[in-house]
Amino acid sequence: MTPKAKNKPYENLKEPYRHFLDLAALTKAEARNIIEKAKALKVTATQEGHGKGFIHPDRPLADKSLAMVFEKPSTRTRVSFEMSMHQLGGTSIVLQGNDMQLGRGETVSDTAQVLSGFVDAVMLRADNHSSLLEMAQHATVPVINALTDFSHPCQVMADVLTFEEHRGNIKGKKIAWSGDGNNVAVSWIHAAVLFDCELVLACPKEFCPRAEILEWAARNGGKVTLTQDPNKAARNADCIITDTWVSMGDTDAAERLEILSPYQVNRRLIRQANKDSLFMHCLPAHRGEEVTDEVIDGPQSVIWDEAENRLHIQKSILMWCFGK
Ligand code: CP
Ligand code: NVA
Repeated sequence: MTPKAKNKPYENLKEPYRHFLDLAALTKAEARNIIEKAKALKVTATQEGHGKGFIHPDRPLADKSLAMVFEKPSTRTRVSFEMSMHQLGGTSIVLQGNDMQLGRGETVSDTAQVLSGFVDAVMLRADNHSSLLEMAQHATVPVINALTDFSHPCQVMADVLTFEEHRGNIKGKKIAWSGDGNNVAVSWIHAAVLFDCELVLACPKEFCPRAEILEWAARNGGKVTLTQDPNKAARNADCIITDTWVSMGDTDAAERLEILSPYQVNRRLIRQANKDSLFMHCLPAHRGEEVTDEVIDGPQSVIWDEAENRLHIQKSILMWCFGK
């Protein structure tokens, strides 16, 4: 199944409600509008004198509620979504999968129907992407992908926002990924197509993104290539990105640490990139593994802006889901 086909279950939603399941399901115009709205929302929220408990004067989500279901741990995603709902005038509820009947075997489809009776949108961080699709298929409210084993679209929208804040339009820029071809890498492949940037992924053959995802990018005009050579990926790059070598749910840590060690982002690798290249990491980082302290704490690193931008992009994604 192509990423696009996986995002099909829209039929039960009444316009203007929309699921945010994967970047591959958005049009270029939708993706661009979400980024631009996030920039505007950030300006409003960060005006002088506003505390973090600021509430948008228009309260655009005043009558909206969000249930956030976590099957895996989270710091950034949880706090940014909860603060987004608060700042837009709405309400949110955090639910840990194991504290729910979901953890005792209630089906995702039954849970979807029940939650749809209580709240206006559901955010899900799922062990398996299939659970997200099942939630979307059976919910009658928008469902948002807050990370699955397949993808992490909210994160990569924040990454694009961060790149553009520092370096202007990402179109035509070279982005290098070094490390595991994981969920974040997959959403970057989708983003490269949507935002017309070049993406070179350096991944060992054992941990490459699936061929069908690269084929999807090629079919859709993406400039996405794969190499096993991190230096080649980094050469003349405008941004170098990496992520943990052992994602939540991975059980083969020892093998991963060994195979991925040549892909570490360190000073030597950064020197291959353009002088003003950025370094990004979705966090949490495993310092000394996928990235050295001197890079993640160095002058090219924009990780704290990237983390904060989760808040601003989340608001824009929520508003898009509600057709606002
Ligand atoms: N980057 C990210 O999604 O972080 P959390 O796991 O803390 O939500
Ligand atoms: N690839 C990481 C991202 C964490 C935000 C994971 O899935 O654990």
